[in-house]
Amino acid sequence: MAKLENKVAIVTGGGSGIGRAIAEIFAQEGAYVHIVDLNADMAQSVVDGIISAGGTAKSHACNVAEQTDVLRVVKSIGRVDILVNNAGIAHVGNLEKCSPEDFERVFNVNVKGAYNALFAVVPVMKANGGGAILNLASIASVVGISDRFAYSMSKGAVYAMSMSVARDYIADNIRSNSISPARVHTPFVDGFIAKNYPGQEEEMFEKLSKSQPIGRMAKPEEIAKLALFLCGDDAGFITGNDYPIDGGFIKLNN
Ligand SMILES: NC(=O)c1ccc[n+]([C@@H]2O[C@H](COP(=O)([O-])OP(=O)(O)OC[C@H]3O[C@@H](n4cnc5c(N)ncnc54)[C@H](O)[C@@H]3O)[C@@H](O)[C@H]2O)c1
Repeated sequence: MAKLENKVAIVTGGGSGIGRAIAEIFAQEGAYVHIVDLNADMAQSVVDGIISAGGTAKSHACNVAEQTDVLRVVKSIGRVDILVNNAGIAHVGNLEKCSPEDFERVFNVNVKGAYNALFAVVPVMKANGGGAILNLASIASVVGISDRFAYSMSKGAVYAMSMSVARDYIADNIRSNSISPARVHTPFVDGFIAKNYPGQEEEMFEKLSKSQPIGRMAKPEEIAKLALFLCGDDAGFITGNDYPIDGGFIKLNN
């Protein structure tokens, strides 16, 4: 039997990268996948791919930073068994290079966006007897990474929110975990290299690949497989944890 048969899943930011790979593997494993993404065209193209592969999915154009938008979408979905809080944006720069506008932009998507989805979905899960939540943290939640001030702040908050929800809703049969990838080769990484290191793209890509002791970036599909396990019933005893998936970044970089 498929691992997520009869489950309804929401994947925020499922139109690209890690979220896309998670949406696709969830659909392959029988879930009805709702992709909630700011970019309606990208979300719909992932949905089209899932449907043509025989799966079930729907796209919802939504800015996770806007609570009314998120509440509207979640209400239209009804039952939710799985929430993957994945939508996120990057910012490169230390404290002095982080303007109030940069800070707010990153905070609004990465922190408030995750809060908005949790705020909308947790009562639905409670009413339905439980659910599984997976939050995309990062190695930057727990390790000092150079020039990632705002991003690290936001991912530290995601890590903490995930634990808080796990503690408060354990009696409601809601499990909440986070995963902390090192670099994953997605448009997110290509985008910030192109924006912040113009003319040095290849060199930067090499440098970022080698910062994982394993010598490369992760593939989105590798992250998706861990997400599948943590959101499925096989992980029924796992809650309140963070799982690095980092090619040795945290423990072997010495
Ligand atoms: N790629 C990495 O190296 C890496 C490492 C660790 C953690 N992460 C985290 O994984 C998550 C996904 O990263 P990715 O690399 O797949 O990114 P990506 O840029 O490829 O995809 C992000 C998706 O989120 C959507 N999105 C952005 N802002 C949104 C908003 N306000 N409302 C709704 N949707 C929005 C985008 O449209 C896009 O589809 C992020 O939270 C990121 O911080 C990524």
